[in-house]
Amino acid sequence: MEKKVAVVGTQWGDEGKGKIVDMLSEKADVIARAQGGNNAGHTVVVGNDQTILHIIPSGILHKGKMCLVGNGVVVDPEVILNEIKHLKEKGVSVDEKNLLISQNCHVIMPYHKLIDIAREEKKGKEKIGTTCRGIGPCYSDKATRSGIRMRDLINRDILEKRILANVAEKNILLKHYFKKELIDPERTLKEALAFGESLKKHITDVATRINKAMREGKNVLFEGAQGAMLDLDMGTYPYVTSSNTTAGGICTGLGVGPRDIDEVVGIVKAYTTRVGEGPFVTELTDSTGAAIREKGNEYGATTGRPRRCGWFDAVVLKHAVSINSITKIAITKLDVLSELKKIKVCTAYELDGKTTDVFPADAYELERCRPVYELIDGWESKISGVKEYDALPANAKAYLKRVEELTGVPISIVSVGPKRDQTIEVKKVF
Ligand code: GDP
Ligand code: IMO
Ligand code: MG
Repeated sequence: MEKKVAVVGTQWGDEGKGKIVDMLSEKADVIARAQGGNNAGHTVVVGNDQTILHIIPSGILHKGKMCLVGNGVVVDPEVILNEIKHLKEKGVSVDEKNLLISQNCHVIMPYHKLIDIAREEKKGKEKIGTTCRGIGPCYSDKATRSGIRMRDLINRDILEKRILANVAEKNILLKHYFKKELIDPERTLKEALAFGESLKKHITDVATRINKAMREGKNVLFEGAQGAMLDLDMGTYPYVTSSNTTAGGICTGLGVGPRDIDEVVGIVKAYTTRVGEGPFVTELTDSTGAAIREKGNEYGATTGRPRRCGWFDAVVLKHAVSINSITKIAITKLDVLSELKKIKVCTAYELDGKTTDVFPADAYELERCRPVYELIDGWESKISGVKEYDALPANAKAYLKRVEELTGVPISIVSVGPKRDQTIEVKKVF
């Protein structure tokens, strides 16, 4: 039976979605992104070769798969063209037969990037710690209905009108508020037209394509970007990204109905990481945190920034499970915890003298939460070569069992290293 499976991040991103999507792509016919942009960095390791994808779905490395970029994604044309170029240099064929971009994707324009950077600078200590890729300003223009879409890049008249209107507005902001250099509308138009020309063959009606594929009984994989705690509505606002990173974003970001998602696989890092600012209850600022960062190579795949590291947080996970209706868990980076004698798991928060396991809706309330920990014995042995669940050390299995108990969701995939074959599929997803 055909299946439509969603893969979503459950924490603050970088859970290993790229690796799991690549692995599941073998059984999928179509792999589709629904939101985010090149703030995402999804790493796929095949043999000794590493590929980091920012916009193109992680299924692209498999031959004969259709990769779709849905209308909910914001696309920086220069970045996607570079990504195509890099893939081609690696010998991966990329053309209109395996990569289609929705005509309704909003385009990240040069002024979006400038404003993202300038706004962060202006905020100083209050900054969000964005990736400075223009994501927030682009989604803002989408919401105010002044944005430029992929389809506009191939329509000179409309494009010119929209660029002139946008540049006039943004230049006032850049000049008087941010005190930055101005944007040249003519140059912006010329560049945008050239990008449109290069991408033309990939631009199409993705919503119709994906619905047709589903009606034809194809297996579909929806590739989430970021994670539940970065969701614009459900995450730790204002320290979030500007799209809906939870399963609901798939429907609006691709034009599929909620009943077209059969399974939601939540990607769960065996501990927690976060890039950028914002509250992080289980954060470790000591040598244990530093050791996890080094062992797990926790440096941003997009910006190279060191990731903040901390213990597994079951309060976050329960929140992620409920707002995504997660049906299965893929746990990643279990190998990173291998050397630890004792591992902590946060089971609840203490907030203003009371214990709660309900995730606070407000970032400032979350800042006041203190973790309530449970201590679990480590397994203190290497597991990166383990191929079967039964061969895992007893304490590693006990840790996984505890994660299942706390989240109420069965674990179907255990990842013990970055490579494709360092994966234990406990229960088949497809
Ligand atoms: P994504 O954004 O969710 O796709 O995750 P990233 O690619 O940004 O970050 C995950 C990092 O962990 C990448 O460097 C992966 O190669 C690596 N990785 C994924 N799974 C595992 C695993 O099970 N063990 C180890 N050690 N590394 C992993
Ligand atoms: P993947 O898909 C981790 C974070 C940024 C910042 C906040 C807002 O690789 O998991 P933005 O540039 O989106 O306006 O930044 O969101 N962020 C991510 N953190 N992984 C990501 O993507 C992220 N995408 C955005 O660090 O805190
Ligand atoms: Mg990432």
